[in-house]
Amino acid sequence: MPRKPKDRLLKIAPVGELKNHQSKKFMIQRADRQTEAFLIQKDGRHYAYLNLCRHWTVGLDFDGNEFFSEDGEWLVCKNHGAVYNPVTGGCEGGPCGGAPLYRVPLVEKEGFIYADVENVDWVES
Ligand code: FES
Repeated sequence: MPRKPKDRLLKIAPVGELKNHQSKKFMIQRADRQTEAFLIQKDGRHYAYLNLCRHWTVGLDFDGNEFFSEDGEWLVCKNHGAVYNPVTGGCEGGPCGGAPLYRVPLVEKEGFIYADVENVDWVES
């Protein structure tokens, strides 16, 4: 069934829920499956990505909802240590081989953060 226009935005969290370097996981419904994603806050700004490493197609966090390095500067895959830039999603080191995380565009509206699910950079694997 085609999505209605109002389904484009998926409410994730109220603005202010996440503190610096905190994260919140959420599920995005696709036509044939659900895909996990995560919202992060860094230095007062929010970013979101699919929870899929670019080394293997598995979650970065071992289900622990911990994505940041100890110093809060990087997103780190707990599997083999791939390192991503939290602002751009770019691969900065480790076995991700230069491939960035899949970005989930965000919209901030009326005090809430929404995922723009129609414009997610979907992985097709
Ligand atoms: S699965 Fe992420 S570094 Fe290997």
